[in-house]
Amino acid sequence: MANQESNTHNDQEGPAGRSAATGRRALLGAAVLGAGGAVLGLSGTARATGGHGGGGLRSLPVPTIIGHRGASGYRPEHTFGAYDLALDMGADIVEAGDLVITRDGHLVCRHEPEIGGTTDVADHPEFADRKKTTTLDGTPVTGWFAEDFTLAELKTLRAVERVPANRPHNTLYDGRWEIPTFEEVLRWQDEQTRKRGKQVWIYPELKHPTYFRKQGLALEERVAKLLRKYRKDRFDAPVILQSFEPTSVQRMNKLVDTPLVVLLSGASSRPYDFVENGDPRTVADLVKPAGLREIASYAQGIGPTLDLVIPKDASGRLTQPTTLVADAHKVGLRLHPYTMRNENPFLPADFREGTDADAYGDVFGAYRTYFATGIDGVFTDQPDTGLLAREDFRKGAAS
Ligand code: G3P
Ligand code: CA
Repeated sequence: MANQESNTHNDQEGPAGRSAATGRRALLGAAVLGAGGAVLGLSGTARATGGHGGGGLRSLPVPTIIGHRGASGYRPEHTFGAYDLALDMGADIVEAGDLVITRDGHLVCRHEPEIGGTTDVADHPEFADRKKTTTLDGTPVTGWFAEDFTLAELKTLRAVERVPANRPHNTLYDGRWEIPTFEEVLRWQDEQTRKRGKQVWIYPELKHPTYFRKQGLALEERVAKLLRKYRKDRFDAPVILQSFEPTSVQRMNKLVDTPLVVLLSGASSRPYDFVENGDPRTVADLVKPAGLREIASYAQGIGPTLDLVIPKDASGRLTQPTTLVADAHKVGLRLHPYTMRNENPFLPADFREGTDADAYGDVFGAYRTYFATGIDGVFTDQPDTGLLAREDFRKGAAS
C-alpha cells in the first residue's frame, strides 16, 4: 500500500527581565553540553528559574522521543485524543501542534492549510462552496482551507484519520474529536502538567508562514502573543518552536526566547521563504558547515529528514551516514530528525518485513541504526515503540 501521506512543505518583545540574547547564549551552551546521548539533569540556570519553565532543553532525556502530531499512529492526528495518548505512553514532548490559521485569526492545529484530508468537511453540505484550488508554496492544491473558515465554523467539524488505508484501526475514532486551537493546547499543557505531576513539553510548528503572511494572516506575532500570555516565551519554557522557513524562525527569535528549531526537508529542496526572497540556497547548502553556523546564530536545533542523516539508495536501502550529526553538534545544534513510523511503507527497505505493506517492519532495527548516528531525538507516530527502542539503545550502550 502506498504511503498516502501528503507533505505540503517543499519536497518535500523580548520577555520580561531577560534579554533575548542572554537567554539564547545560555541555551546554546546547554545544547553543546547536551549533544551526545546521556540523560541530562537540570542545569544550574534552569534550577535558578524555579518552577516557571520546563527546566530548559537540558532537562530532556536524550535521545528525546517526540510524539509526532500526538500518538498519530494510533489516533487521528492533531486531536486531544492523540495528544493525551502520547503523554500516557510517556512521550518526552508532544508535537502539539502543526499550526495553521482561521479567517478570523485563530491559530489551530492541522498539518496543512487544506483540511479535507483530516476532517469530515466534505460531509458538510453547508461548506461545499468553500472547496477551491489554490496555489500553496507554488503548487496547486484543491480542497478546503483553514483560512477560509472562522473558528466557530471549524469547530463544527470533526477530525478523521489521514491514512485510513495504512491505519484502518484508527478510523474507529473518526468523528470523535474537534480541531484543537493553539490556545487550548497551551491550557492543556498546563492542566496535564498539574495532573501528571510532571512537566509536559510541546513542540509546535509554524506551517507555511509565507503563505499565510501574504494573506494578511501572519503566524509569528500571534504565536508570540499567546506564548507571552501563558508565560512560555522564555528560554526555559517547556516549548520548542519549529518551522521549515528559516525566516520565520528568525522572526520568532526576535519575538520570544523560546527554543527554536529549523526544519530541513530534502537536500535539493528550497525553503519557500527562500524562493519568495530570491535566496538561491537549497537545504544542501544549509547543511554545510557555513549554513549550520548561520542557523546556530538564531536557533538551538535542526529537524532534518532522516534521509539527511542516512541517505537511501535507489532501492530505498540505507547507505552510509552523512557528517550532519557531527557537523551540527560542532556548532551546538541538536538534531531531532523526522519521522519514525512502524509500518513497512514508511521504513527503509532494509527494515521492511513480509509482504503485507501495512504490517509493522523491523522498526527496532531501524531505531538502532539511527540512534547509533548520535541524533538527539526523533519524531515518531508511535511514541511507545520509540521509548522501548531508546531503552534497548541505552542497554546496548551500557553493555
Ligand atoms: O515537525 C517535524 C516533522 O513534523 C516535519 O514534518 O511534515 O510532519 O510537519 P511534517
Ligand atoms: Ca510537523
